[in-house]
Amino acid sequence: MITPSQANYPATRFRRVRQSGATRALTRETLLGVGDLIWPIFVCEGENAVQPVPSMPGVVRRSVDMIAEAAREAADLGIPAICLFPYTPAEKRTHDCAEAWNPDNLSNRATRAIKAAVPEIAVMTDVALDPYNADGHDGFVRDGVIVNDETVEALVKQALSQAEAGADIIGPSDMMDGRIGAIRAALESHGYSDVMLLSYAAKYASSFYGPFRDAVGASGALKGDKATYQMDPANSDEALRLVARDLNEGADMVMVKPGMPYLDICRRVKDQFGAPTYAYQVSGEYAMIQAAAGNGWIDGQRAMMESLMCFKRAGCDGILTYFAPAAARVLRGAR
Ligand code: PBG
Repeated sequence: MITPSQANYPATRFRRVRQSGATRALTRETLLGVGDLIWPIFVCEGENAVQPVPSMPGVVRRSVDMIAEAAREAADLGIPAICLFPYTPAEKRTHDCAEAWNPDNLSNRATRAIKAAVPEIAVMTDVALDPYNADGHDGFVRDGVIVNDETVEALVKQALSQAEAGADIIGPSDMMDGRIGAIRAALESHGYSDVMLLSYAAKYASSFYGPFRDAVGASGALKGDKATYQMDPANSDEALRLVARDLNEGADMVMVKPGMPYLDICRRVKDQFGAPTYAYQVSGEYAMIQAAAGNGWIDGQRAMMESLMCFKRAGCDGILTYFAPAAARVLRGAR
């Protein structure tokens, strides 16, 4: 708080406390730790497969047999959670999206592999139909319309199959109305009362998701945009109403997505509700930093650490970031 009694120059010189690393450390307001990181990873079919994602330099897709190794690496670095995104083969992308609740789909197999090998790491999963949908959308498309209530019924089946596979945190990213309440009720009635819901509550219709859609193979199928269900980037009050709604329906944690252009939303959400609040530093944000760093235009490591610290400063309790292992290594080295 700036008080009226703040003395004028030269009695007050703000540079005094900035003069050394020691006093900068003592006056630092925000801490970033390894415990703040959630690592999104991509899963693909095959064995021993590690496929680079061209639009996300440094990011790969891994087959299920390689996933446990990645989870072990993350846990050893102190990263508390991994978030799974499947690259579903084209023949399993259908109009009924049935692969989404197949107990043996890629995401569920990866969850079981991680929970068997590295039980201490939390597994977060993604609830939305887009990786399984021939139409590329997060919901069913009927006569050109993305239908809400029928989609919610499918999302409930998908969430239950993820809970059954052992997911600790379920992340609905689909932006259908009413899905948090429906999923929460189904989890309670099926004996999964401890499964957490991290709602992508304020998810914007953003151009920054482009590289992700390449990573999960959804770019080709998607016709049109997602503006009828994801938020208008111009809106802020609406984000608060969505967060209020999702907390009321049983979300344990909430997310703002994308991250960096939406830090004002993170701050408002944290101030208003005080709930566990996360930001997703999405694929396009990652790609921008990596592209600029790769060209020698910015210092990639510093930009990475600065961007993550700024999420904490904006009120976030944690960050989903493709930089998680790299940032964890920096944080551990700095100790
Ligand atoms: C889709 C989903 C998206 C992301 C996570 N889940 C893309 C979209 O909404 O089209 C984006 C993540 C990223 O860009 O890193 N359910």
